[in-house]
Amino acid sequence: MTIRPIHLLGSPALRERAVEIEQVDDELRQLARDLFDTMHADNGIGLAANQVGIARRVAVVQTEEEDALVLIDPVILEREGQVKGEEGCLSIPDIFADVERSARIVVEITTVGNERVRVEATDLRSRVIQHEIDHLEGVLFLDHLSPLKRRMLMKKWKKLRKGTKGHIKEVARPATGTPVF
Ligand code: CO
Repeated sequence: MTIRPIHLLGSPALRERAVEIEQVDDELRQLARDLFDTMHADNGIGLAANQVGIARRVAVVQTEEEDALVLIDPVILEREGQVKGEEGCLSIPDIFADVERSARIVVEITTVGNERVRVEATDLRSRVIQHEIDHLEGVLFLDHLSPLKRRMLMKKWKKLRKGTKGHIKEVARPATGTPVF
């Protein structure tokens, strides 16, 4: 079990466009396992590789016990409907806001077995997948908000981070609280 440090808002890693995987190998599978370990340890339901400082197109999602999903080179093929819902992010702890997302998506991904498959998602799963794919583009949920709302949350973030140094968070042990992605 490897829990990796998580990059926080302000880290340039979160603003990089992650590069394609193309060929799944053991190293990539290990990275996916580490992402799950790190996500679970920090009580998350989604985590992208950028968030552990690796700009490669892989993310993990787990909104239900039985629904663990590894997204490798994900591409959204279909979108339907619009729905608002609250989001948070493991890279921006304690900051939450309503974000508008597609209600239903069909996403094409490569599996850890190196197969290209399509996955349909609705509800929270759809939301988390869109949030993680944004990460792979260097986009954060804050970017979807109005300038006013964003300014307000940035003020709160600065207050919360006052006295802390750097943009890396060591995830020491499983936490409890509201699940965030
Ligand atoms: Co996030």
